[in-house]
Amino acid sequence: MLPVIVHSVNELRAMLPENKHVALTPTMGALHEGHLSLVRHGRQLADINVVSVYVNPLQFGPHEDFSTYPRELEADCARLENIADIVFAPNDAELYPLPQTVTITLPPLADELCGRSRPGFFQGVATVVCKLLNCVRPQTAIFGKKDFQQLFLVQLMVAQLNFPTKIAAMPILREADGLAMSSRNAYLTSDERQRAVLLPNALRTAAAAITAGEKPTTAAATVRQQLQADGFVVDYVECRNATTLTSTASGDIVLLVAATLGQTRLIDNIEIRCPNAAKRELA
Ligand code: PAJ
Repeated sequence: MLPVIVHSVNELRAMLPENKHVALTPTMGALHEGHLSLVRHGRQLADINVVSVYVNPLQFGPHEDFSTYPRELEADCARLENIADIVFAPNDAELYPLPQTVTITLPPLADELCGRSRPGFFQGVATVVCKLLNCVRPQTAIFGKKDFQQLFLVQLMVAQLNFPTKIAAMPILREADGLAMSSRNAYLTSDERQRAVLLPNALRTAAAAITAGEKPTTAAATVRQQLQADGFVVDYVECRNATTLTSTASGDIVLLVAATLGQTRLIDNIEIRCPNAAKRELA
């Protein structure tokens, strides 16, 4: 069965009885297998499986790709056949009937990593996620580790603002050659698409080196050099504690990278279990 498309918040609420397990996967559409893996997880948990499809203007900077971001609602619904029950696809007037003067304030981490080159991005994400959680009131909301910092900040918001929703974190789905799936991969030319695989390859090599005892900062510097040599414009390559996202920490590590290839900004990350790195300094 195809999912039912709902545009209005009131109509949506009327379809969601309180005694049912509702799962929500928030997306901006142009769905790929990475998104679908989240939605399939929702299918397993929920009586009513909801996917939101909304390109959120609040999280795009003035020079970013808001106007060109792929919008393909009909194809998305076909991709969700037999997996989702409801597609919530509000328009801007429905979600932002008034200028959004009330927003979510996040800790300084929101201005680091992706937040440094995308000011206001995470505030825009947190505000729309807050609205979507209040519109759908799901027991479970599902997010991907592809956007590791986003997932972390959403978890923090949900915990600190006492949302009753449980956040499920799902692994990164990759193409056969290792490139993390992303709606923005469609922007890559065929030459760039071939070179894009150098990014996950560099992350895997660095992870192996760190596991073998290399200093995380040295491994991160090597990734930066490799990517620059391969024609990427590197935004950041950083090792952080995988649980707290702080840079001076011990324990498991996540190596995060953002880099632009041609016109396309790619992000990726790899988690590295460090059982023997109890007191290792990352910075
Ligand atoms: P979007 O980029 O469409 O991603 C929607 C969800 O799919 C996010 O939780 C993201 O982490 C997950 N996802 C994307 N690619 C993935 C992959 N290759 N493997 C696993 N999960 C993947 O992230 C957003 O939209 C927006 O910021 C949103 C949260 C919807 C707020 O507007």
